[in-house]
Amino acid sequence: FCRMNSLERAFVSSTRNIISVFCNHLPSSERSLVSHKIQSLIDYNVGDGKNKRAQLVISSFDAIGGSIENRERALRSAAAIEMLQSFLLIADDIMDNSNTRRGKKCWYRQEGIGLSAINDAFLLQSAAENEMRESFRGHANESRAVSAFQSTIRMTIVGQMLDTATACNVEHFNWQRYSQLVEHKTSHYTFILPLTLGILAGGKEIPLEKVTQVAIKLGYLFQSQDDWLDVYGNSATTGKIGSDIKDKKCTWLSCKAIEIVNEMNDGKMMERLKSAFTIGDEEEVARIYQQLQLNQRFKSFQDEYSGKLIKETEFIPQIGLSSLFKDIITQTKDRQK
Ligand code: IPE
Ligand code: MN
Ligand code: MN
Repeated sequence: FCRMNSLERAFVSSTRNIISVFCNHLPSSERSLVSHKIQSLIDYNVGDGKNKRAQLVISSFDAIGGSIENRERALRSAAAIEMLQSFLLIADDIMDNSNTRRGKKCWYRQEGIGLSAINDAFLLQSAAENEMRESFRGHANESRAVSAFQSTIRMTIVGQMLDTATACNVEHFNWQRYSQLVEHKTSHYTFILPLTLGILAGGKEIPLEKVTQVAIKLGYLFQSQDDWLDVYGNSATTGKIGSDIKDKKCTWLSCKAIEIVNEMNDGKMMERLKSAFTIGDEEEVARIYQQLQLNQRFKSFQDEYSGKLIKETEFIPQIGLSSLFKDIITQTKDRQK
């Protein structure tokens, strides 16, 4: 316990608390059964990733100079965000029919788990909500934090709905659809919520509009990279095997391909692309992507987008936040996992 950093300690104490909240009322043999199940669910799924979202809560808290007596709250809500993330990923992997996550089998593919993973996702959602509420209990920003958390879940659910509703239909592969699905499925829980909770925990009166605006764009950068990594990433590094082409997803790459072929005004090529997408023919789509030089095009998009975004964040009046944004963009740019 002593050797752990403060975030790891927050994970451990949140886990303990969750187990007691979920099990306390049970007779001892059921209590032992359920608590072991929850422990292994959390061990396998929570805190085992990059913990980027949790760290963002802490770094935004620190960036605005949050006071020491609120730091525990920030840490606990950071642990709650990682539970939220695990809940979303367990469900996402089922929806996407994925095989691996964080270099391990997806939870629902584990021996003896299967579709009971659906209930495990619900459990983590409920646990995350509980920890989130507890972390802000009695804080002046308690109700703002709780509603930020709830609206994030709502937004992400709509985003996942857009993600699955746009799949399998080339008509949806356009930038309008794409930017909406990205904002909803990724920006809210990956950037807006962690930044918001860190700032709210810090207790300083900082307007959230500009932060939210930037966070939406950070989400766009992050998800477009996720789409690029799905096809061009090294799965030994990302810990997951891409499935976007097979799943016929609306992604940065598929939208770009449609855009370019449209501009080329080449009917034959468009037919070829559409039919490859419709079948989900991985090799053919990859061949076309290469012909269209999507790999290079993504790299230039990424450079340009992140350069502009850094400029935009220089105007943020809170110097701590402005340099935090710069760090995030620099770290996010060219990420390999
Ligand atoms: C995941 O989106 C978004 C959420 C879990 C809400 P993706 O399906 O694109 O992400 P990966 O590639 O499986 O991680
Ligand atoms: Mn998905
Ligand atoms: Mn997925």
